Amino acid sequence: MTSPFSNSYPDYTKLSDGFVLKSPAKVNLLLRVLGKREDGYHELETVFQELDWYDELEFRQSREFTVRTEGADLPSDDSNLVVRAARLLARAGSLPLTGSLVLHKRLPIQGGVGGGSSNAAITLIGLNHLWGLSWPLTGLMPLARELGADCPFFLTGGLARAKGRGDIVTPLEGRAQGVFLLVTPSYGTSTAHVFAEFQQRLTEVEKNVIFSPLQFAEKGGVYPEISPLNDLEIIVFHKDPALRLIRDQLLEAGASYALLSGSGSTVFGVFDSEEQASKAARKLARGEVRVTMSRAVARTR
Ligand code: C5P
Repeated sequence: MTSPFSNSYPDYTKLSDGFVLKSPAKVNLLLRVLGKREDGYHELETVFQELDWYDELEFRQSREFTVRTEGADLPSDDSNLVVRAARLLARAGSLPLTGSLVLHKRLPIQGGVGGGSSNAAITLIGLNHLWGLSWPLTGLMPLARELGADCPFFLTGGLARAKGRGDIVTPLEGRAQGVFLLVTPSYGTSTAHVFAEFQQRLTEVEKNVIFSPLQFAEKGGVYPEISPLNDLEIIVFHKDPALRLIRDQLLEAGASYALLSGSGSTVFGVFDSEEQASKAARKLARGEVRVTMSRAVARTR
């Protein structure tokens, strides 16, 4: 289907009376915390990777503005990032708030895969189209920044490097190789709490880690500076040893690397084959965890 969006991101399906956009998950292949900033946030160096695992957002014309969520118990007030994104764009574009939106929620909430930030960014892209604003992505970028540090990445998806709060994004060619197995416990983690504790531990983070660069497909080779690493593991695994155990089980099952995604609670492992990943999934799918198999997505730049 011909996409009205540049580089065919996000994935688009036309309906008779509107359209559907996929709102993808991310993992952080690399996440380094460089220090605390004056504004209270932390200075990061990170690499985002879009996955073929997603929520869906339906957009239809309607005079009255409504947001309905299916698959999760999310309120339709300002605590919902879809609603916040819509209000922000309406105000910035001096337009009335209109449209009927349905969010089909599949991604975990507070799961470290960027679900909420993705929904907010995809709402900006979707309403920009529905309302005929046709702003370029550079126009949506300041709004995405305001909605959350991970939001700007979801305006372009694919593979990207990021600096600042995680909101200064440079898209990259290619995608991480392998089969991703994501293990999400029944509870989430609060990003704010994890970062608050990190402050006390900044000095404990190992500075001399051994880098073993990842292989990327559709790019041909490696980015020398991208190795699997997450500085937040020290906090999260200490607080919740069950998550460290999942990481260890993924490695024992043959993952070439396994990491906490963002501030958690999802832990992911990357396998060479689907067969290997399925075997690991059967071992890990015990107790109160959700196991999802996925692949990394590349976008034309
Ligand atoms: O931007 P977002 O709302 O996703 O961030 C949630 C919280 O995580 C922030 O309020 C902040 O406490 C913390 N954070 C941080 N440094 C970052 C990103 C997030 O300290 N780079």
